[in-house]
Amino acid sequence: MTIADLSKEKLNYLLEMAREFEKNPNRELLKGRVVATLFFEPSTRTRLSFETAANRLGARVIGFADPKITSGTKGETLKDTIMMVSNYVDVIVMRHYLEGAARYASEVAPVPIINAGDGANQHPSQTMLDLYTIYQTQGTLENLNIYLVGDLKYGRTVHSLLMAMRHYNPTFHFIAPKELEMPEEYKIYCKENNIKYVEHTDFNSEVIADADILYMTRVQKERFTDLMEYERVKDVYILKNDMLEGTRDNLKILHPLPRVNEIAYDIDDNPKAYYFQQAKNGLFARQALICDCLGITLDDVKNDTTIIK
Ligand code: CP
Repeated sequence: MTIADLSKEKLNYLLEMAREFEKNPNRELLKGRVVATLFFEPSTRTRLSFETAANRLGARVIGFADPKITSGTKGETLKDTIMMVSNYVDVIVMRHYLEGAARYASEVAPVPIINAGDGANQHPSQTMLDLYTIYQTQGTLENLNIYLVGDLKYGRTVHSLLMAMRHYNPTFHFIAPKELEMPEEYKIYCKENNIKYVEHTDFNSEVIADADILYMTRVQKERFTDLMEYERVKDVYILKNDMLEGTRDNLKILHPLPRVNEIAYDIDDNPKAYYFQQAKNGLFARQALICDCLGITLDDVKNDTTIIK
């Protein structure tokens, strides 16, 4: 439901499991199982990587990518939809536009629910792949300078990431215009959990000079009630190649994607750009999450004899 539920030991355990899947994602550990992907909001990466994760582990996948084709359009409630789908599958992956929808589903469903994003609230499976990517690029999760840039108000990935990082002594820098600043509840969370943070409205090479991770985000048009306000802030920060001169050698640029206009396209060829590899890691992280929900342990994965060469 939320990354805040997971201890440091559990996070590290899931990351180790994801590393096993990176060595070989093709196995039959989930043969005979059925996974549902219920997406009430658009998605490219999250849905397709969950489905690929399940398929590469031998499970079958059912679900929908567009709620307009479901009986929800006839008035069926979320509860009834979840109860029905639970009759057919072993685990449900759900994205919903309402904050708290995944928790609600987990309270009524007899099968595990994986939150694939609920409104502007949380995106815990994204955080698993973000942690995996940060470790992969920095060799550690400890004591890093992490810059979160853009829509920190509505961007659920940054909310989940800062909660997960509480275990690893980060220093966060929040770069956002006033309208999109990190919500107060997450600043309070930082204070309660001794997470250091600095807030900025400027975005330039001096500000990001000591960054280890530059985590860019899209301004979330779909969450705005006033489109004039969206127009005012949509292009407020655009990362350009010249801003990377003087930044740390180990700096990596991450983005949960999709990108709209916040990273100039020529940055894709800069060795510091890492967002496409980051998205690839979603496969391994989500394989670990599905397995964990279905009671498959790290030892099961390490001793797996179903690997397809
Ligand atoms: N990062 C992410 O959630 O992307 P999608 O919206 O394409 O799933």
